[in-house]
Parts: sequence; structure tokens; C-alpha cells
Amino acid sequence: MKILGIETSCDETAASVVEDGRTIISNVVATQIPFHAEWMGVVPEIASRKHTEWILPVVREALDKASLKPGEIDGIAATGRPGLMGSLLVGLTFGKTLSWSLGKPFIAVNHMLAHLYAAHLAADVSYPYLGLLVSGGHTIICKVAGYDQIEVLGTSIDDAAGEAFDKVAKFYNLGYPGGAVIDRLAEKGDPRAAAFPMPSLHKGEHRYDVSYSGLKTAAINQIDQFWNPSYPRTDENLAAAFQEAAVKILLSRLFRAVEDTGLTTVVAGGGVAANSRLRKLLAERTDIECVFPPLSLCGDNAAMVAGLGYQYLSRGIVSSFSETASARVEG
Ligand code: KG4
Ligand code: ZN
Repeated sequence: MKILGIETSCDETAASVVEDGRTIISNVVATQIPFHAEWMGVVPEIASRKHTEWILPVVREALDKASLKPGEIDGIAATGRPGLMGSLLVGLTFGKTLSWSLGKPFIAVNHMLAHLYAAHLAADVSYPYLGLLVSGGHTIICKVAGYDQIEVLGTSIDDAAGEAFDKVAKFYNLGYPGGAVIDRLAEKGDPRAAAFPMPSLHKGEHRYDVSYSGLKTAAINQIDQFWNPSYPRTDENLAAAFQEAAVKILLSRLFRAVEDTGLTTVVAGGGVAANSRLRKLLAERTDIECVFPPLSLCGDNAAMVAGLGYQYLSRGIVSSFSETASARVEG
């Protein structure tokens, strides 16, 4: 079964053909980064306009690269939530229209579940496991029992992990997009340059929740208070110290979940899963099997959408054309 995936939830216009939920035949990602860089953040109005311009050529390219005519695909999957409304509507409406005109089944998929599925495109992972979903908009630690069966254990109560990277990078004018820039700068910095406070671990139902506002405030407004005066105040040192704290906040909750649930396989997904320090620290835990998607599938792409779409469509699960976009992750 060859599924065409379409992804337009944020600032990448993407289309991909994946066979049987596993084999990527084509994977086209048109990034809008240069158009948002001037504002050091995604401008929703620009994003949806670019999606409207690019969606047809991007889908065409994905089909051409797969040497397929539109009628030769077996189904269409598009991201329906969460994301920027104006952006989501472009890909979702395009997907529904193509489905209707070709008479092929259509499925709307959840972007965060698709991020989780990305790891399955490159590795054999069996359920159950713990999911670590870290993107620009969401931070979720969850138990995963199937491709669409997740139990959320913890989320960020304020900024998402990627958002914290992006805001700190924007404030210090380090470059755009912030996460990848901080990761790169941190390679040449020393994490001991600043000792940022770690949010305390909660008990009870919030024990896996993450908070980034304290770290963000410390890094932006109270940097003098936490800086180690024996280190020069360079971008590299700042990036390394911030990244170290940001990653350790995540891992403290994740490791707690590993201990409590006894699940020793962790599957990561989302843009922040590309972070080299996160990957390294997780790899050091030899008692945990950690599965990261390849770097090319951490950020937004449509292969993960097509792959997850296959899981539904191969079971005969389809969406109705009344399915609409939503900014919210649940619903
Ligand atoms: O999954 P994604 O591409 O889009 C959303 O669904 O949000 O994630 C984008 C986020 C951005 O906040 C970006 O700064 C962050 O992922 N990111 C990183 C790295 N690469 C991208 N954060 C930390 N380290 C990285 N190497
Ligand atoms: Zn994403």
C-alpha cells in the first residue's frame, strides 16, 4: 500500500510517499526558514500563504520522485492537528480534495503521534514503550501501547522544550531557528559556565510534568546571578550551559517515568529529538534502549504522516470529509 502523506502544520510544506508504513519512496520538505528568519520566529500569516503557494508543486514532486501518477496511490494522509490553523487547513483541505477527486481513502492524523511514528520508519520498535515527544509546541512524556494508543504521563506546564531554545536564542540574537543554533554553539562551549536552577520535581499526578519558564527567565533576565565568573560570557558558553539545563530537566522526568513504569525502551520524536546533548546523555544510560529517528525525520516531514496514515488505512480506518483542523493536540 502506497500512502501519500501531507504535512503543513507549521512552517514546512512537506509531502512523501511511504510504502506499507515503512519504506520511504520519496520525502520532500520545502522549508520556509528564510521567510521567517527576519522575525526570528514563525509568522503564521506568512506560513499559510507559503503553504498555499507550495503545496501543489511539493505534492507533485513527491509523486514524481516516487514515479507515481496520482491515481496510483492507495490513500492520502494529512496532518489535522495540532498546529497553526491557517497552515493546517492548507494541507488538510488539499488532502481531502485530492482524496475526493481520486476516489481514494483519506485519513487525518495527529502530528505528535506522527512524530512518534518517525522512529518506526527506520527501526523495529515493539510496544509498549515510553515516548518522549519534544517539539516547538509540545513536550510530552507518555506510555505508548500502539500507534495511536498513548497515555500522557507528563507535559510542559508552560513553554515547550523547543520553544525555550527558540526564545533564548532569539533574546541573545544567536540565530534562527534557535534549537539547532544553540546545539551547534554548545559544542564549543562549557556547560559549567552557568549554574541554572532546576525546577523541583513534583509529587503525585504532576510528577512527570516539565517546566521551562524558570530556566528561560534565569537565562534571559537573571543571567548575572547564575553566571560563573571564571568563564567568559560567550555565546558558546551560554548555549552550552542553557542546553545542559534544558536537557537535564527533560531527562529527570523521563528517568522517573522509566523507574516507575519499568518500561526501559524510550522512543523520542520531534525537532528537539535532534539535540546532540539529549542523544548523548540518553545513550549513556545503558539500561535504557533509546530509539531516535534519523536526524532527517526528527523535524517536521510528511513521511511520518504517511507512515502513520498507513497504520489506520490498512485497518480500514478512514476520516470523514467533515474532519476539520484544530490547533489543539487532543480532541
Ligand atoms: O517538530 P518540529 O520540527 O516542529 C514542531 O512540531 O514544533 O520542532 C521544532 C523545534 C524548534 O523549537 C526547534 O528549535 C527545535 O525543534 N530544534 C532543536 C534542535 N533542532 C530543532 N532543539 C534543540 N536542539 C536541536 N538540535
Ligand atoms: Zn513537529
